[in-house]
Amino acid sequence: MDGWIYNPGFSGILASISASGPDVRCVVRCKLLAVFQKGDNAVKFPISVTLNGRRYQREVEPRQLLVHLIRDMGGVTGTKIGCDTSQCGACTVLLDGVAIKSCTALSVQADGASITTIEGLASDDKLHPLQEAFWNKHGLQCGYCTPGMILAAHELLRTNPQPSDEQIRHGLEGNMCRCTGYQNIVRAVREAAATMRRKG
Ligand code: FES
Ligand code: FES
Repeated sequence: MDGWIYNPGFSGILASISASGPDVRCVVRCKLLAVFQKGDNAVKFPISVTLNGRRYQREVEPRQLLVHLIRDMGGVTGTKIGCDTSQCGACTVLLDGVAIKSCTALSVQADGASITTIEGLASDDKLHPLQEAFWNKHGLQCGYCTPGMILAAHELLRTNPQPSDEQIRHGLEGNMCRCTGYQNIVRAVREAAATMRRKG
C-alpha cells in the first residue's frame, strides 16, 4: 500500500532509513548508520515519544521494533503482533496521525513523535465513530485484527472521506482478517464514513 513502511529485513530497513526523506529525522538516521557500520547493536539511544497523549522517555536499542516499545511502554496491548513481517496489519498504529505498521518501524524512528493506538482513539470515554460502526455492523469476531483494521480505516477516511466499497477494500488490503469474511468490515467503514461526514 502506498506510503506504508514495508519490512524488507534488516538490510532493507537500513536502506529505507538511508532513502527516507524528512519523515525520518536526520540525526537519528546518522546515528543509526554509524552504529550499524560499527556492528554495535548494544548501544542504546534516549528517545522521547508521546503515546496516546502521555509522554514517555526511554533508552532503546537501535534494533528494537516500534511495536515492542508500544506494547511494553504504557501497558497498552491493543496493538497486536501477527505476522511480524509487515503482511497482516495487526500492528497498525498512527504515527503523527499517519498509519504505519509498527512491526516494520524502529523505535528510534518514533523519537519526538506522537503515537496513537486503538486505546487512544476514543475520547472522553466516547468511542470513535469507527469503533462504534465496527460494533454496530459486527465488523469483528475474535477481534485480533480489529485494532489494526480500525486504524487502517482511519487512514483511509483521513485521505478519502467518502470511499466507495471498492476503495474501502483497496484501502484495507494491507490488513488481514481470518474470521469475518470482510463484508461487515466494509459495511462498518462505510457507516463510519457517513457518520464522520455528518459530524464534520
Ligand atoms: S505484525 Fe505487523 S504487519 Fe503483521
Ligand atoms: S475478527 Fe478475527 S481476525 Fe479479524
